[in-house]
Amino acid sequence: MSDSQSGAAIEALGGETRTFPPPADFQAQALVSDRSLYEEADADREAFWARQARELLTWRTDFDTVLEWELPHAKWFVGGSLNVSENCLDRHVQAGNGDKVAYHWEGEPGDTRTFTYAELLDEVSRFANVLKDLGVAKGDRVCLYMPMIPELPIAMLACARIGAPHSVVFGGFSSNALADRINDAEAKVLITADAGYRRGEPSTLKPAADVALADTSSIEHVVVVDRCGTDPEMTEGRDHWWHDLMADASTDCPAEAMDSEDLLYLLYTSGTTGMPKGIMHTTGGYLTQVAFTHKYVFDIHPDTDVYWCAADIGWVTGHSYIVYGPLTNGVTSVMYEGVPNHPGNDRLWDMVERYGVTKFYTAPTAIRTFMKWGRQEVDRHDLSSLRVLGTVGEPINPEAWIWYHEVIGAERCPIVDTWWQTETGGMMIAPLPGVTTTRPGTATHALPGISAELVDDEGNPVAEGGGYLTITEPWPSMLRGIWGDEQRYVDTYWSRFEGRYFAGDGAKIDPDGYLWVLGRVDDVMNVSGHRLSTTEIESALVSHPSVAEAAVVGATDPTTGQIPIAYVIVRGDVEVTDDLGEVLRQHVAQEIGPIAKPRTVVLVPELPKTRSGKIMRRLLRDVAEGRDLGDTTTLADAGVVDEIKTRAQGGGDE
Ligand code: WTA
Repeated sequence: MSDSQSGAAIEALGGETRTFPPPADFQAQALVSDRSLYEEADADREAFWARQARELLTWRTDFDTVLEWELPHAKWFVGGSLNVSENCLDRHVQAGNGDKVAYHWEGEPGDTRTFTYAELLDEVSRFANVLKDLGVAKGDRVCLYMPMIPELPIAMLACARIGAPHSVVFGGFSSNALADRINDAEAKVLITADAGYRRGEPSTLKPAADVALADTSSIEHVVVVDRCGTDPEMTEGRDHWWHDLMADASTDCPAEAMDSEDLLYLLYTSGTTGMPKGIMHTTGGYLTQVAFTHKYVFDIHPDTDVYWCAADIGWVTGHSYIVYGPLTNGVTSVMYEGVPNHPGNDRLWDMVERYGVTKFYTAPTAIRTFMKWGRQEVDRHDLSSLRVLGTVGEPINPEAWIWYHEVIGAERCPIVDTWWQTETGGMMIAPLPGVTTTRPGTATHALPGISAELVDDEGNPVAEGGGYLTITEPWPSMLRGIWGDEQRYVDTYWSRFEGRYFAGDGAKIDPDGYLWVLGRVDDVMNVSGHRLSTTEIESALVSHPSVAEAAVVGATDPTTGQIPIAYVIVRGDVEVTDDLGEVLRQHVAQEIGPIAKPRTVVLVPELPKTRSGKIMRRLLRDVAEGRDLGDTTTLADAGVVDEIKTRAQGGGDE
């Protein structure tokens, strides 16, 4: 592999050989403890998925064809119809489980709300009627820009109930990012809140939504949840309070029968170019794989489990594993609004203890932060309810894995490191906790029914060593396209290696056959498990009047995984002030969101380019990480790098 980062990672991880078989007592109670699911899927992949679809979901009309595959277009469970909210709610109530808790929600200040499945169904039905009254019809897009409050999953499920695809925009994104996404999806209604609690204070959303709305024309109505009482401005006729609209909405709203291939949602994610891609997920296949993976990777026992995915619903992890997977499986979940260190660094462990959480899912960046805070924060709490621990979002370093295993899991809980993407919709590479012998740092093997393969530069399969991670067969929850850009779908995912989906990740197979996903080989970086595009940040920088040219790279960071470092050429006529670096960092925060803020802005006279004019990001990354530069012979002007190195070491603006 040419990418220096993955190269370094391959070396660094080369020595890990420890293995952790499933504990015997865990295996004894596990849903699966042998290879039967793998064998069944290997024998007949389509029949395997068809069985899961019929067992895990309730269909209005059964499907007649499992898969229609015309590369790169898949249709799953063709001819079938179903409704996602009915699968998540109605059928559990009808089965007599209406009194079971769906969500134990906890606000950051400590306020709590509990929703049983029956209560959630009522709320969802009422809000579905509200949406209908606002003129939302099947196929209309609804944008959600919300904090982690119960109204968020309620709104998502209400959209699903009436067949209106939702587009959830992470609450940490800026007004510009929101406007882009509203415009691309041509969303008709926006649902937001005045604010949500973060770090002990209301963090406002409605003012940013108002700024975004000045640049959009498709939104007809805005629904605002009054979460923090911050008294936002309300535009007469356009803006409505959630509680006013809900006050006299009926709880009777029959669910629409949706075609298996009808659009369930759009979720925008960063790609290698500036504009984020609206990833399209449809109904039957998505729900099947999400339900299957949730059930078997977390070994879900709906009668006894209390499951907690501590992600934000604004990202795909929250869509699939806070909302759709757990509710389809009828499990009780915990949902939390705020940051993990409010009021203290033990907030999450306090909650695990109080709710008796059995299955816990988080990101490596969070685990590394908990490590930094120290085990005394954990040891104050009784975590003996925990059974399975999951991770997602980025490679987990073996050190963090072992800490998770020893300190959180008391060496008792299998760890499921789950590799997947916004585009894959559901988990793809992960252990089954009662079956798989795990190894720290690797997501182990492809799940039953999933075919992953590493290839070299020419697309030849690699049996051991480094390569590019590809998927060779269609899977039920795969993206069905990029909203409004068919060609980009084909180019981005299906053109690098013929006949294969290329995921953008570099990986390695070790001598024992474990698959190590090492990180992106394209211009996408992973900051605290959040996907950001270097080009997107560069566009944001260049949109500032002081900037002539910018290059952004992701440097390795011990806590966040990666962090953006920006190299900027200032326009000739601009006077450089001491605070320019900080001004540009704030500008990026405003254009995209605070998570995209470069750690450092290095002002440079020139960027290192090849003779054909391509910016040599590898060199910039090496500079950012203080590595020796190695071969610079393809560089047009070798002096440039020395100058940049000097500035990066001395003059970088922190
Ligand atoms: C990375 C998040 C290593 C990977 C669900 C992927 C991982 C990108 C893992 C997708 C893992 C996710 N091990 N790397 N277990 N899980 N990644 O779309 O680079 O936000 O391509 O989806 O995260 O990020 P996304």
